[in-house]
Amino acid sequence: MTALPASQTISSEIKKLKKRKNALILAHYYQDPDIQDVADMVGDSLQMAQFAATSTADILVVAGVFFMAETAKILNPSRKVLLPDLMAGCSLADSCPPDKFSAFIEQHPGSPVVTYINCSAEIKAMSDVVCTSSNAVTIIKSIKTEKPIIFAPDINLGKYLIQQTGRDLLLWNGSCMVHENFSIDKILELHRTNPKARFIAHPESPPHILKVASYIGSTKGMIDFVRQNQCDEFIVATEAGILHQMHKEVPDKTLIPAPGYEDNTCACSECPYMKMNTMEKLYQSLLLEQPTVHVDEAVRLKAAQALARMLTLS
Ligand code: 13P
Ligand code: SF4
Repeated sequence: MTALPASQTISSEIKKLKKRKNALILAHYYQDPDIQDVADMVGDSLQMAQFAATSTADILVVAGVFFMAETAKILNPSRKVLLPDLMAGCSLADSCPPDKFSAFIEQHPGSPVVTYINCSAEIKAMSDVVCTSSNAVTIIKSIKTEKPIIFAPDINLGKYLIQQTGRDLLLWNGSCMVHENFSIDKILELHRTNPKARFIAHPESPPHILKVASYIGSTKGMIDFVRQNQCDEFIVATEAGILHQMHKEVPDKTLIPAPGYEDNTCACSECPYMKMNTMEKLYQSLLLEQPTVHVDEAVRLKAAQALARMLTLS
């Protein structure tokens, strides 16, 4: 392993490497603040995909999880795509193995297949169209057939989509370990002690959490809501990394992370996969130009079609 620069200079070393190598860093809102601050763009899954699709940089470093880096590679295969830690996976993506999902599709002939972007390239390749939390309602409404629609892998987002669109969805039983962990009792208690606060939630949260939310949306949607809403206090039910950008956007508002079952701090609402990326790994990754992300070409071509449909509809 190459010797690391002192922690106070690591950010400037990363900036120098980016310039020298014509590299761009794409960071998700759930990344640590120092990673978000050194990135060239910070966004939700849709913004990251849109940015990756049109980028002309030689190297794209994805400060996020594996499916995000895979998506960047699928959409822009001639770029070198780096992920600082290849073990940065996702509980939702892991819940949907390709062989089992293929069997599920076969049980429902003729049903269109819509998948949430939090899945592997193989699953995307079996899909008619991909969606993210910010465009899922639009994508489901765009499907013309009367047949039930297969939706995977997030059962909570799927239930929310049924409620929003009135469509018949056949749901895969996957979920996000972070959003499953919010405690309704502790959230209601927190609301009692902060009665003026608006409670906002990501649609990966279970129905009993969404039922009490005054706004439901993607990470970008939640940030926009907090900026535009008149209220000065918000209880925020999604991964705690989002609070960094929110604080930047609304420095004078009070942002309270929603508590999980285990404790009353935001520690349990941190995604262990997202948090595998560190400034040190980001530096090493740029320096050595690895680990790189590869997608089998036959899989990539099919997955690219499903992603292209999503981008057209977004
Ligand atoms: P969005 O940022 O697209 O809302 O997705 C949230 C998420 O869980 C990403 O892993
Ligand atoms: Fe996956 Fe949830 Fe982590 Fe997002 S927050 S990467 S959905 S486990």
